[in-house]
Amino acid sequence: MRKLGSQIIVMKFKLDKRKIALLIVTLLCVVVSLFAQAQPFFKSHKSINPYQYEVVKEKSFNNAAVTSAHPLASMVGAAIMQDGGNAFDAAIATQFSLAVVFPGAGNIGGGGFMLARKANGELIGIDYREAAPKNASRDMYLDEKGNPIQSKSLDGASASGIPGSVTGMISTHNYAKLPLALLIEPAIELAEYGFVITEREAKGLNSEKANFLKNSSAPSAFTKREWKSGDTLFQPELAATLKRIQQKGLAGFYEGPTADMIVNEMKHSGGIISLEDLKNYQPKFRKPIEFDYKGKHIISFSPPSSGGIIIAQMLKMIEPFKVETLGSNTIESVSLMVEAQRRAYADRAEHMGDPDFWKVPTKTLISDAYAKDRMKDYVPGVAGSSKITLAGQVHESEQTTHFSVIDMEGNMVAITTTLNDTYGNKTIVAGAGFLLNNEMDDFSVKPGVPNMYGAIGGEANSIVPGKRMLSSMTPTLVTVDNKPYISIGTPGGTTIPNQVFEGLVNIFDHKMSLKAAIDAPKFHHQWIPDAIGVESDFPEATINALKAKGYTVAKRGRFGRMDGIMILSDGKRNAAGDKRGDDSVAGY
Ligand code: DON
Repeated sequence: MRKLGSQIIVMKFKLDKRKIALLIVTLLCVVVSLFAQAQPFFKSHKSINPYQYEVVKEKSFNNAAVTSAHPLASMVGAAIMQDGGNAFDAAIATQFSLAVVFPGAGNIGGGGFMLARKANGELIGIDYREAAPKNASRDMYLDEKGNPIQSKSLDGASASGIPGSVTGMISTHNYAKLPLALLIEPAIELAEYGFVITEREAKGLNSEKANFLKNSSAPSAFTKREWKSGDTLFQPELAATLKRIQQKGLAGFYEGPTADMIVNEMKHSGGIISLEDLKNYQPKFRKPIEFDYKGKHIISFSPPSSGGIIIAQMLKMIEPFKVETLGSNTIESVSLMVEAQRRAYADRAEHMGDPDFWKVPTKTLISDAYAKDRMKDYVPGVAGSSKITLAGQVHESEQTTHFSVIDMEGNMVAITTTLNDTYGNKTIVAGAGFLLNNEMDDFSVKPGVPNMYGAIGGEANSIVPGKRMLSSMTPTLVTVDNKPYISIGTPGGTTIPNQVFEGLVNIFDHKMSLKAAIDAPKFHHQWIPDAIGVESDFPEATINALKAKGYTVAKRGRFGRMDGIMILSDGKRNAAGDKRGDDSVAGY
């Protein structure tokens, strides 16, 4: 009996174990299938694994390519094109994905510029730059004595302009092929089911944890723990916000619960964005800046970005000097280019601002005659001075992110988008899970007072309700013989136009490959301060020669993260991501 009994017991136990195992397997299958159903995008794109992915720095693709600050965002964009979308579809999916996987700069709480050239030659410039709220005023960042309080224009909700990114993407959708809901889906899944973060992201989130907690009204997904590379970041509140946009379009962000949450967050740190500001925000279509340089046709963004005008001015100023014979980053080429930078940035401070509030003399500034006149006191090999070189007389009444897309048809998109500083104002909208910008600091808070990039400005860039702050973002496209050739851009505050300028000179004059041009060490002069900043790997011989000529030269960390795509002579899309970040390319 005992034996039998024990046999029965053993049998029962065996049966239970089998049953339990079966139950576990069934449960697992249910979870996996639910998870898969809930993830329609990643389920049908098994080659993209949010939990295991690699950075690809350079590759040429037969049909289409994306290059952005994060491998997952690039892969999402490329997959969207493989699914039948065009470069606009890919750009929208990439921007929303960056808002999840690259929270330091990818955003829905910031703004940016979308520059495109359709395969038929049509140019499109969408300005979705943040705007000053209705209750903003000229001296809002000054104390009673008239001194600037920079923390107010940098930290917390008081620093935020009205976000433009969601309208920017919805306007871009006019040129896309696939439904908007489908383009937002990958971002929702990345936020809801998480993705593995890189070491760079882990460090960034940890270093700002105290600021996130101080500047926001509630803890957030970012402040849950100390992060390390390989951890999975889940952002359920951001997923819910993205779902509201997916379901309701503009109203999912600028009205209803998301708008209420933004306005509530304002109370925590002196913000002034109202429901009315959000509802009234409009993106603007801007006519791009166009000019030629040595047989290449360059298209870039117009004010309120200063970038297009500045690169036009600088390239025109150096064009007569045969830069191709001077070598890259030599004393001869750097001193010439620095003198062009000095002059263009002096004009930026004086003449550039939101064109709806300030008459920007664009036509004159980018004319050949003006460039020639500006360089008439240039003496090769002699250091200039910003005390002598002022803005021209014109008589005419670490974090932003750039990404580029070129599709199979030849549509080219270049988008630079930002929260201004890395992680913006460090304020996460409670309940909505996204960071707000601190773009108000890009205004000139007082004439002659430098902003966080050391740039000064005056009346042209003063604060007025509804006005957009002057930007340096320079999304740029190039065509040759009316055919698409390059899409390029970079973050880096005021260094942006100079980086694009130097990148283009590296390609056109020094015949570098796109990747080499992007990775080459950069230098920067912005008129005031009267000093040249150089990246840490800049050639020592050139630094010493510049110092010997009387220039002040200071080494700085890295300047930006330039991403670009170039169409090679065989039609292949050669995509390159900057060595300076996690930037990564994808395509097919
Ligand atoms: O619009 C601008 O010029 C700045 N807000 C860009 C900021 C930026 O590039 C920061 N990146 N490192």
